[in-house]
This record gives sequence, C-alpha cells and structure tokens, in this order.
Amino acid sequence: MASKTPIRVAVTGAAGNIGYAAIFRIASGAVFGPDQPVALNLIEVGPGLNALAGVVMELADCAFPLLTDVVATGDLDEGFRDVDWCLLIGAVPRKDGMERKDLLGINAKIFVGQGQAIGRAAKKTVKVLVVGNPCNTNALIALRSAAHLPAENFFAMTRLDENRAKSQLAAKAGAHASDVKNVGIWGNHSSTQYPDFTNATIKGRPATEVITDHAWLKESFVSDVQKRGAVVIKARGASSAASAANAALDTLRALHFPTPAGDWHSVAVLSKGDYGITPGIMFGCPIRTKADGQWEIVQGLTLDAFSREKIAITEKELLEERATAAEALGIKL
Ligand code: LMR
Repeated sequence: MASKTPIRVAVTGAAGNIGYAAIFRIASGAVFGPDQPVALNLIEVGPGLNALAGVVMELADCAFPLLTDVVATGDLDEGFRDVDWCLLIGAVPRKDGMERKDLLGINAKIFVGQGQAIGRAAKKTVKVLVVGNPCNTNALIALRSAAHLPAENFFAMTRLDENRAKSQLAAKAGAHASDVKNVGIWGNHSSTQYPDFTNATIKGRPATEVITDHAWLKESFVSDVQKRGAVVIKARGASSAASAANAALDTLRALHFPTPAGDWHSVAVLSKGDYGITPGIMFGCPIRTKADGQWEIVQGLTLDAFSREKIAITEKELLEERATAAEALGIKL
C-alpha cells in the first residue's frame, strides 16, 4: 500500500454505463498514477443502488492495491463528504434525434441539489467535472448552487470532442492521434462547438499546412466533430459510454498533472471575458494546468474571422441555455 494520502473521488451515476467504464480505471491508478492511493464515493439513485452493490463487489474482487475505501450511497451529503473530486456523470442521456440541450428540462434540477450538497459536504478545495448533459450549463448550475466554492474549480467536459478531433485530423493526415496537439474545443459540448483546427499541430507543423484540403477542415471536419455524439447514438442505440468515460479520466489527469510544454487541453470553464467571450457562461477553452495545480486559459492565440464566427455561434447558444435554465429553475445563473 502506497503511503500518500488517498485522493477521494465521488462519482454520480456510478453504476451506469459511463460510471462503470470509469471507476475501475480510477481504482487501478490509471488517472492519478501508480503510487497514488484513491478512495471512491459511489453515488446512485433508486434502482441503480442494486446494481451499485454489485459494482462494489466487483471492486472488492479486483483487490486493487491503490484502492483504500469505497462508500456506496444514495445520499448526496454522504456521497460528497470530504471528497477531493466530484465526477458528475449521473443524468438522463439523450436519445436519437435529440440535441443535448433538450435534456435541460429533465437534468438541470439534478445539478441544483448536487451543487448544494457539494457545497455543504465536500472539501473546500474540491474540483468538480460535469459530464451529464448538457454539461456546460449543468456545470454552471452546480457552480451557482455551491456559491461559496471557488468558480475556478468547476469544469464541464469537452475532452471527448478534443479526442474526436485529434483522431479525425490524424486519419486525414495519415498520422497517429498522438501526433496531433494543440487542439482547442471552444464553447459548448453541443453541435455548435468549434473544434479549432487553425491552431492545431500535427507532428509539430500547423495542421493547416499538413492538411491542404481546407474545405474539408472547414466543413466536414468541424461538422463531423460537432455531430459525432449523435452518430454514435444512431449506431449504438445508446450514447457513448466507454469513450465518454475515457475522456472524463483524460480530463481529470490533465487537470491534476502539469500540461506538457507546448501543448494544451480542452475543458469548459467559467468565462471571465478572455477572447471577448461573455463572462458567466461555462465555455470550452484551451487550458494549461500549471505545476501548482492551478490552470490558465492559453493566451495570445490567433483567432481568424472563420474561428470568430464559429465561436460567436456557440457563445449565443450557451447564453440561450443559461437563460432557459435560469427561467426553468427560477434561479439566477
Ligand atoms: C457524446 O458526445 O457522445 C455524449 O455527450 C453523449 C451525447 O449525447 O452525444
């Protein structure tokens, strides 16, 4: 057993498809490293609690050397007590033909109660990653509901889009996804997001030099990344699970460890006006995590007219989502 203090991670929707794909990897050390103990607080609702009991048995049956403790509960305060990280996965997933924002009416209220409970029970330094859709606006609701916690510790997941963008750029360039760097996802995890190829690099060269088919970049690439989640739903008959879990874990890792020199990663954070984006919405941005665990938005990127136009579209959608959610919940967001 390693001697460091365990990192305690709460996971909502822990027995669901994404949760099931995520928690064994957290327990194995794949996120925080091979010498970092972890404890899991697994949260479920209603019928999920039976399945959760089975998940707890399976965790025990793995005999993970790094797993120090498992709490399984339907109670939010118990679930979020003294946690270092909250992975908010539990939410109703969209079905074929829906946009993620169509879930606001069902899912938004979940994040009020969860935000409040995190504010009451979690460590004051807790970091919160929202995966349940529409994740940007749900993260804003959680943040506003946990008012005294630092806004910079709340995040919404755009890493799945970043990973999708890297794979598509790599396939087009005849490279490997790991050769593609500096991919920023701007705005909403929705069909308006802007996967920024103009600042991306492939094997250290601008993606726009490596891929000379600029019509493909501007049209097919952007549209395919925007719509990938819907295409997966059509094929699987269910929304992405393993790739969503993988992206959530990539996000935790990217926010826990310093970002390698010359690269960045994508996650949505509360806008304070960087790049002229309206403050007060959770906006996907290119981020660098610093050695002290703080993060900063990458500054000084050139955004051409095409990029600005795309960013304005996703900004407008997030402002509309914020207004819809605020009205539905009767709270100020
Ligand atoms: C995804 O991008 O695959 C997930 O957000 C699920 C969805 O609704 O598309």
